[in-house]
Amino acid sequence: MQLRKMTESDLPQVLELQRELAFQDWNEKQFLSEIRASYAYCVVCEEDCSSSNSDTSHTLLGYAIFHLLGPDSELLSIATRASEQCKGIGSQLLKAGLDKLTENGDQCFLEVRDGNVKARAFYEKHGFKLYSIRKKYYSDGEDAALYKFCR
Ligand SMILES: CC(C)(COP(=O)(O)OP(=O)(O)OC[C@H]1O[C@@H](n2cnc3c(N)ncnc32)[C@H](O)[C@@H]1OP(=O)(O)O)[C@@H](O)C(=O)NCCC(=O)NCCS
Repeated sequence: MQLRKMTESDLPQVLELQRELAFQDWNEKQFLSEIRASYAYCVVCEEDCSSSNSDTSHTLLGYAIFHLLGPDSELLSIATRASEQCKGIGSQLLKAGLDKLTENGDQCFLEVRDGNVKARAFYEKHGFKLYSIRKKYYSDGEDAALYKFCR
């Protein structure tokens, strides 16, 4: 298992993972623009799943996308393949982005659906504090919880 920067060749697996989890519906163009943006940090966790020397393939286990914008840094998206959740992958991805904060500022914001209990427990475990609630923020009327992390 290893972390590395996301590349364009990861996009089929990133899109598949997003579909599997059904928590967001970004299209390929949106992911591409994140990969290309100088202020974005896009990271994946992958597992080397081939023992063959000539044909090494990698299974994507998770990904995260941050905007490193000094005091306005933001976690835009984080996901772990359903079968791999609760094994520490999300924590590794989150830590990789939070470690980059020191170069750019020391706080990070994120928005999460009010009812996303799993993700909220995950963020709170990692020191994010509830900052405010955005009423009816999502198109289906669900509130957004805005969290802030301070180093
Ligand atoms: C949030 C998410 C990225 C966490 O990834 P992960 O790889 O499972 O995270 P880790 O294994 O590092 O951390 C597990 C922690 O997450 C939380 N968590 C995970 N599953 C949970 C569940 N079913 N109920 C409550 N909390 C849960 C807990 O805090 C848990 O810590 P614990 O093991 O000490 O109880 C993952 O659940 C996910 O991909 N969810 C779907 C996509 C999503 O909602 N993304 C966030 C919105 S942008």
